[in-house]
Amino acid sequence: MPATSMDQVVSLAKRRGFIYPSSEIYGGLQGVFDYGPLGVELKNNITQDWWRANVYERDDMEGLDAAILMNRLVWKYSGHEETFVDPMVDCRNCKGRWRADQIHGKCPNCGSADLTEPRPFNMMFKTAVGPVADAESFAYLRPETAQGIFVNFANVLSTTSRKLPFGIAQIGKGFRNEINPRNFLFRVREFDMLEIEYFVMPGTEDDWHQRWLEARLRWWESIGVSRERIQVYDVPKADLAHYSKRTFDLMYDFPTLGYEEIEGIASRSDFDLGSHSKDQDSLGLSARVSPNSHSTARLTYFDPTSNKHIVPFVVEPSAGVGRCFLAVLSEAYDEQMLKPPAEEKLAAVADALAAFLKSASKSEKISTEARAALVARGEAIAADLPLALPQVEALLAMTGADQIELGKKLRGQAQPLTDEYFRTVLHLRPRLAPIKAAVFPLKRNHEGLVSLAKSIRKSLQSSGRMRAIYDDTGAIGKLYRRQDEIGTPFCLTVDFQSLEDQTVTVRDRDTMAQERVPVAELQAYLEERLV
Ligand code: GAP
Repeated sequence: MPATSMDQVVSLAKRRGFIYPSSEIYGGLQGVFDYGPLGVELKNNITQDWWRANVYERDDMEGLDAAILMNRLVWKYSGHEETFVDPMVDCRNCKGRWRADQIHGKCPNCGSADLTEPRPFNMMFKTAVGPVADAESFAYLRPETAQGIFVNFANVLSTTSRKLPFGIAQIGKGFRNEINPRNFLFRVREFDMLEIEYFVMPGTEDDWHQRWLEARLRWWESIGVSRERIQVYDVPKADLAHYSKRTFDLMYDFPTLGYEEIEGIASRSDFDLGSHSKDQDSLGLSARVSPNSHSTARLTYFDPTSNKHIVPFVVEPSAGVGRCFLAVLSEAYDEQMLKPPAEEKLAAVADALAAFLKSASKSEKISTEARAALVARGEAIAADLPLALPQVEALLAMTGADQIELGKKLRGQAQPLTDEYFRTVLHLRPRLAPIKAAVFPLKRNHEGLVSLAKSIRKSLQSSGRMRAIYDDTGAIGKLYRRQDEIGTPFCLTVDFQSLEDQTVTVRDRDTMAQERVPVAELQAYLEERLV
């Protein structure tokens, strides 16, 4: 079962240290997040998987890591200075500032319809390069990594002797000064991007566009994002970005948010290489580009068949890591009832929930919007007990819930029941799991058990092929639950039999089945299953 609401995922991500708000001790910075110890592992595993699938497993790709700071002229000729804008409105009543196309004519903060006319707001962050901040030092933080690939096209071509078709892949940070960052990692101001620019002979772009669509859908499925929850949206002509001839957006059915974009696959014609070239009139470009009076290069390809220099067309699959991270977590998330809770204990939770909701619906300490959201969520939980019992924790993490005194009582009733009768488990693909193996001694004060468990952990981790941890801070059942919740595929327990026959119990996260495996075979046993 994937997550049924976004706050289940948000609550887990915060609780277990996948994600922290940036600069939290100073009140945070809106639209910016940090990846914690588990988050960085999952993020690295996702990006490495993307690199492996798109660079190592194909023979038509090269990699690149271009700088974030670039000459301002890149953004002039890419069209971003002029067109990378969102329509912004101000609320004259509460002074809130909003993206006009997201608010349906009413201020989401105070409900007023007294809004200014929309005006364009350029989303690129500006900075100064060097000690003097003047017109000469002015630079942007890149809003996409793509331009780093286009302006290096001739470098890659001449240093690798590639023939068309071939592509260049890049992973790196992008920055966008979003007017209203929202929905956790979904719309943020700083994020990692996974971008491919694939260069093809003009006339073959439609075929390659289709092939990339299929390749990308296969990758999303391979990392555990179900094809059933992805829709392909053929973007209508009127909504295409300035560079695009045709774009397929992959839309994922996020819990709570519904279908939203996780990747865009654009057919960019010869717009980009043409835009960054000199002598444009001699290139026979099909795209409409701004005259370029600064470039020192023609970004062309010599076609040995026709004996001519041509400007390749481009197909661009481009995804954000944060949205991928959210989709992967949403898909993997599961709250499993191990057995039904006792009737009278469940009735006590239902009473505590009803009292909490009554108090929340009357509370003046929280905004109308937060109150409505709390009550709606609480009522949905009440209607779906006992299955929805674990969602009480997510309810109590919602905005305003900490203002309701009865929340403590509700947590006191719900938490022990959730712990006893449920487990939260992330069914992540094992190769994406932040931690691959957790090793426990049956008793933490037994020297022999502890030292064998620690040495197993050390040898697994020092192979360099997996993150393994040692934990002795609770009873084995509790330690299993902790690892299930973060998606650790294997838990290894060292018991007294281990000291005699050098085997350990390996417990599978998904089936909870256990088997004994010789210590000497552990590395191979685990690696075979880390797929
Ligand atoms: N070079 C093409 C390009 O930048 P885009 O559709 O603007 O295309 C690509 O962005 C992907 O980056 C999106 O599909 C989305 O996954 C991600 N993305 C865009 N803006 C984002 C934001 N503010 N926060 C998080 N991810 C974002």
